[in-house]
Amino acid sequence: MSAAWRTRAERVADTEQIERLLDRAFGGERHLRRSELFRQGRKPIAGLCRVAEAQDASGAARLLGVVRGWEVQVGKDSDTETSKETVKETSQQSDKQTSKETGRKTGKKTGKEKVPLILAGPLAVEPSLRGQGIGKTLLAEHLAAGRRAGWRGAVLIGEPEYYRAFGFRLAAERGLFLPWHGAASLRSETMRFLALELRLGGLEGLTGAVEPVPLGKSQKPRKDTPAPKPKPRRGHEPR
Ligand SMILES: CC(C)(COP(=O)(O)OP(=O)(O)OC[C@H]1O[C@@H](n2cnc3c(N)ncnc32)[C@H](O)[C@@H]1OP(=O)(O)O)[C@@H](O)C(=O)NCCC(=O)NCCS
Repeated sequence: MSAAWRTRAERVADTEQIERLLDRAFGGERHLRRSELFRQGRKPIAGLCRVAEAQDASGAARLLGVVRGWEVQVGKDSDTETSKETVKETSQQSDKQTSKETGRKTGKKTGKEKVPLILAGPLAVEPSLRGQGIGKTLLAEHLAAGRRAGWRGAVLIGEPEYYRAFGFRLAAERGLFLPWHGAASLRSETMRFLALELRLGGLEGLTGAVEPVPLGKSQKPRKDTPAPKPKPRRGHEPR
């Protein structure tokens, strides 16, 4: 295998190679993992899934890395927001603390609307080609695409040491939990549940269990609180 690899958007034709790569990376029983709850029966988010490939000795392209992303949802405290733009702009530490503490103490079970986040992953690289920066490149491109598409933030289940460099921190510190949080035997999984804001204040006011989106829900990039657009100029015509 050539050391020269490149990344590109995932294509439908990649599906079989991706499945085999994921089997090699995570084992054939990966579909039995609890995190599959987020993915089963749902499609990954178009535009966020990336692959790495290289040419083998015969010149055929061989897939050697993949990252995917899935839409999930979490409740937003309606009383933490006076307007959508307010949430985006609010990132003071004191507010974070208040939101965290309030979410933990009360659970904020009422008055919550659901907002979408990305569940990043799986991220996998061909075992024989690890340590060349493929994983980090794929993840960086995945997150950059999420930022461009206007997503608020991303969560994932993974090794904190690996993801810290991208800004991921313990999701529980923000009051975000896996839907099965509370089962004593799964504390280690909670410690691997991480979150990252993809825009300033993107995770403010979001607390509680991160859940799968309902089956059949459209899996499209969402811009529920879009970044400010330039003001239209007088006489501007849409292109
Ligand atoms: C995790 C994984 C995607 C990394 O891919 P990769 O292409 O080897 O990663 P990169 O080359 O970009 O980064 C390598 C660095 O990450 C570190 N790293 C790799 N796996 C790690 C892990 N599980 N925990 C902490 N650090 C890890 C390496 O030590 C190396 O550190 P260095 O840069 O200081 O030398 C790959 O090891 C893999 O496919 N693992 C199996 C599947 C998996 O666990 N996926 C992540 C959970 S979704």
